[in-house]
Amino acid sequence: MPEITNPERILRVEDLHEDARLDEYLRLSEAHLRMRTDVENGLYIAESTTVVNRAINAGHVPRSFLLAEKHLGQLTEEFERFPEAPIFIGDDQQLQDLVGFHLHRGAMASMNRPAPLDLSEVLTASSRIAILEDVADHTNLGAIMRSASGLGVDAVLITPKCVDPWYRRSARVSMGTVFDLPWVRLNSWPEDIQILKEHGYTMLAMELTEDAVPLNAVEITQAKKFAMVLGNEGRGVAEQTLALVDQAVMIPMHREVSSLNVGAASAIAFWHLCSAPRN
Ligand SMILES: C[S@@+](CC[C@H](N)C(=O)[O-])C[C@H]1O[C@@H](n2cnc3c(N)ncnc32)[C@H](O)[C@@H]1O
Repeated sequence: MPEITNPERILRVEDLHEDARLDEYLRLSEAHLRMRTDVENGLYIAESTTVVNRAINAGHVPRSFLLAEKHLGQLTEEFERFPEAPIFIGDDQQLQDLVGFHLHRGAMASMNRPAPLDLSEVLTASSRIAILEDVADHTNLGAIMRSASGLGVDAVLITPKCVDPWYRRSARVSMGTVFDLPWVRLNSWPEDIQILKEHGYTMLAMELTEDAVPLNAVEITQAKKFAMVLGNEGRGVAEQTLALVDQAVMIPMHREVSSLNVGAASAIAFWHLCSAPRN
């Protein structure tokens, strides 16, 4: 076993059936964790060593760790940084019984959910924004966040009904980029478009409408600020949103394929949005 400061905080799952701190890991259903997204009592579960490491490096604070004993050596630095956080260990079967699925890659942490960022500050500091309207699938959300981060989008806004970027699947698919890329959940959509307009943003919506212009015809100029809306997987961008944006934009399709997956469309859109120099 690696040397760990304060080793009495290493606790065996089999001895802890009554320990309330384990409740946070108990059968990690989406519904259970969705109910806990308020900041005061909020937490999220970071899954895999890479994600735990990224979250901690982004300044997030772990409440506890949960991992197979054989993986104890993987997070020694993180354990040292938070010597008060309990470390729950067990064998593979005990952990599977607790969380309800096989814990591959060994480690999890229950993390305090940091306070949300301030929308106005984020809009002031940015000039290329992505807005995700009611994206419903955690895998899509994670893929979009990864593209947004890697292609240079400054920040992401999500609508009230969009799934959680810190949900464990989104975070894992995003390769942990959800912890570095600023994001804000909007309060009211599409009404909040007005706030973006007041901050000088030109509003674009990615959608195959009759009046949409091709993406590569949209001139992205250095001096202007742009926000680009991507729509829900099934319905696309809502009519009310399309009525409020400055321009609908499309990627022309071929062979009677009706649309792209929103993750694929976002990567193409972000590349165009971020390819021109900016202030
Ligand atoms: C799978 S599509 C939704 C398709 C929806 N069933 C429809 O027919 O409108 C999800 C989102 O991806 C983006 N998207 C997908 N393909 C696109 C394209 N060719 N041009 C522009 N946006 C696209 C849009 O933002 C769209 O709202």
